Amino acid sequence: TQNPHEVARVKNLNLIQIGKHEVETWYFSPYPIEYAYLPILYICEFCLSYFPGVKQLSRHRVKCTLQHPPGNEIYRKDDISFFEIDGRKQKVYCRNLCLLSKLFLDHKTLYYDVDPFLFYVMTMRDEDGAHFIGYFSKEKESSEQYNVACILTMPQYQRMGFGRLLIAFSYELSKVEKRLGSPEKPLSDLGLLSYRAFWAETIVSLLVDQQKTGIELSIDDIANRTAFQPTDVLHTLQNLNALKYYHGQYVIVLSDTVIKNNERAMKKKKREVDPKALNWKPIH
Ligand code: ACO
Ligand code: ZN
Repeated sequence: TQNPHEVARVKNLNLIQIGKHEVETWYFSPYPIEYAYLPILYICEFCLSYFPGVKQLSRHRVKCTLQHPPGNEIYRKDDISFFEIDGRKQKVYCRNLCLLSKLFLDHKTLYYDVDPFLFYVMTMRDEDGAHFIGYFSKEKESSEQYNVACILTMPQYQRMGFGRLLIAFSYELSKVEKRLGSPEKPLSDLGLLSYRAFWAETIVSLLVDQQKTGIELSIDDIANRTAFQPTDVLHTLQNLNALKYYHGQYVIVLSDTVIKNNERAMKKKKREVDPKALNWKPIH
């Protein structure tokens, strides 16, 4: 006797085509059953609708004139843009986005109810349009002060610094809101690696800069400057072995190794979020 739910949750689709990319999927996603056993699922890279064959997709592309995600373009710098999409106003797009991202997210429940979320889609522009790189979702009202619900870089763009850019952007929004934020738990292994790297790099860079002024920063000071929650700052400092008990209190001390590693990391050319290119006000 098999549990019907277990059968239903076995990974079904193996391959999708989106834009110029064929992408192997990682996990189950509840696409309608008639699409589940296709050799390849064809996805319109702009509206994220899905089709059983290449013919149906090209017929769709004649009608679908989108060359970017729906919603407001709230950031543009060089070829990178962010679009803010309201789950209540763009239900179909946001459900399609959730279905697509579930193919690469194991531990998250899929929200059919997209109304309570805003979706921040990051694109890279070329002559054909603004191509979908990744996104994060965010609850309109989070009782836990989460500033990210789900975050994804499409596999064909992973390990190129785009996850870092998404994370950095989520904290820029929190800075504008004058709030401290943190990603929704639990994090995936890849999510944890990416957040830890981002937190460490940001905090160490801030501390190194600050050393020049001679004024020491507390954990709360670091939190307020970065929009990280104090517990994330604390855990990052613990991971860096940077909290020392000295004369009856904790002080933050960066070892030479930590500083050297940070210098090396900062030498890699990285895309940064430019706060001046953000044109956004919170809705609440
Ligand atoms: N192995 C080791 N370190 C990694 C890896 C990996 N596979 N991926 C990221 N990192 C670390 C590295 O330190 C990396 O910096 P480096 O490349 O200079 O060494 C750093 O994270 C940032 O990497 P990016 O290239 O900026 O991140 P990427 O674009 O690959 O996106 C993300 C990271 C979003 C987590 C991506 O792996 C992904 O979409 N995974 C599937 C979905 C997922 O797990 N999302 C997070 C769920 S948790 C949540 O939603 C709140
Ligand atoms: Zn389309």
